[in-house]
Amino acid sequence: MSETFEFQAEISQLLSLIINTVYSNKEIFLRELVSNCSDALDKIRYKALSDPSQLDSGKDLRIDIIPDEANKTLTIRDTGIGMTKADLVNNLGTIARSGTKQFMEALTAGADVSMIGQFGVGFYSAYLVADRVRVISKHNDDDQYIWESSAGGTFSITADTEGESLGRGTAMVLHLKDEQLEYLKESKIKEVIKKHSEFISYPIYLHVTKETEKEVPDEEAEEAEEKTEEGDDKKPKVEESGDELTSLSDYVTRMPEHQKNMYYITGESIKAVSKSPFLDTLREKGFEVLFLVDPIDEYAMTQLKEFEGKKLVDITKDFELEETEEEKKAREEQEKEYESLTKSLKNVLGEKVEKVVVSHKLGLSPCAIRTGQFGWSANMERIMKAQALRDTSMSSYMSSKKTFEISPKSPIIQELKKKVENDGENDRTVKSIVQLLFETSLLVSGFTIDEPSGFAERIHKLVQLGLNIEEDDAIAPAEAQASDAPAAAAGDSAMEEVD
Ligand SMILES: Nc1ncnc2c1ncn2[C@@H]1O[C@H](COP(=O)(O)OP(=O)(O)O)[C@@H](O)[C@H]1O
Ligand SMILES: [Mg+2]
Repeated sequence: MSETFEFQAEISQLLSLIINTVYSNKEIFLRELVSNCSDALDKIRYKALSDPSQLDSGKDLRIDIIPDEANKTLTIRDTGIGMTKADLVNNLGTIARSGTKQFMEALTAGADVSMIGQFGVGFYSAYLVADRVRVISKHNDDDQYIWESSAGGTFSITADTEGESLGRGTAMVLHLKDEQLEYLKESKIKEVIKKHSEFISYPIYLHVTKETEKEVPDEEAEEAEEKTEEGDDKKPKVEESGDELTSLSDYVTRMPEHQKNMYYITGESIKAVSKSPFLDTLREKGFEVLFLVDPIDEYAMTQLKEFEGKKLVDITKDFELEETEEEKKAREEQEKEYESLTKSLKNVLGEKVEKVVVSHKLGLSPCAIRTGQFGWSANMERIMKAQALRDTSMSSYMSSKKTFEISPKSPIIQELKKKVENDGENDRTVKSIVQLLFETSLLVSGFTIDEPSGFAERIHKLVQLGLNIEEDDAIAPAEAQASDAPAAAAGDSAMEEVD
């Protein structure tokens, strides 16, 4: 008995986009499916820590890749947690993640299909190379079910009473498009796995069917297994709050009970990240932050996404910080109190920022630039800018989602609020100060400044003020210099807008 379900509208749209794309770098589908296998294996391994009987359905944690030339299918199988019937319905078709729409927008703006995994819709990349996909899955809490779809708006779910029993886990059977049969070749699969799935910490077995003279039925075909990657040493090495190396497992064991996510920051060097304004509040809460300073970490972490059931969170991007009821109340009050200031700042900064928000995550640092969950981090923008032949339309999309965060705990922001209330957002000094705060935030957050000369001029004005140098037409008022709030100290006439 088979039940038919309709894909949620956005997912349906995404599928037809993927199935029809002329995109050439289709090989990334394998990375996405293998990464899902790895996630599923992490989940069962984690679950088994508190309940070892979860592994009664199979102790071997592995990934198998099985090409079948006769049937033109490529199967990617894992002994991970598997999916119940409800999981299949929800995860593969009826509940859209926020990333579904975001990914389509990014594509329209010229983003690369290979970024699909970062938007949380990696599974659907199977349709880059397949026109029909069958997902057979067995979860410990349910029977074995088959999910199947040729895209086109619907998928079906069938109880699997006749097929080979998986024990536990998931098999994705891809019916390859006629022009994608190269993915059945041993050498091609090996190449793609080596290139994109380097950090998978479970063994991946590639099944190779030996050619024999006469045709043999599938079951009798001689199967050889080949291991391509193995071992825990494949886990990314991470650096931790100094230059001590730690492993992700050790990090987890040190997490306080109320900490839900694993936090990390990426950058060019320990020096570059160790004073980040994003660290303060996390440290206050007693949460460790991993310093990742190898360019490969940036790619590896966005692929890994989770470890032992914990989300890996880039602290320079948008995320939800664990907070107590009291903290939540205080935050909401401050958001209200500073609402009109954020509006004014957005008006001054215009298109340079996506939005301006009050932040409870910054501590005493006045402000910082945070990027969207799906855009590039500052470090990624740096890496991408350093690569010569980048598609510029894509960089403009991926790097455009910047949020300017201001901290109400900072005396600078408190004074700025008063000044804007008194003088209005169109005041020249206000504009200059806001520009300077924005530009310095770019720098401390790991970005570069588009117009360094304007920034330099504004700094020179401040230096002049500090050295009591009087300009012909701009004389610094004495009482402004006496103030101890540095940014607010700049008097109207001395801090004229530069441009
Ligand atoms: N091999 C698998 N085993 C178990 N669950 C899976 C597997 N592949 C996909 N899923 C489920 O489908 C969901 C969607 O996968 P995907 O589109 O790749 O997004 P993401 O991996 O970012 O969650 C996963 O979150 C998971 O719940
Ligand atoms: Mg995935």
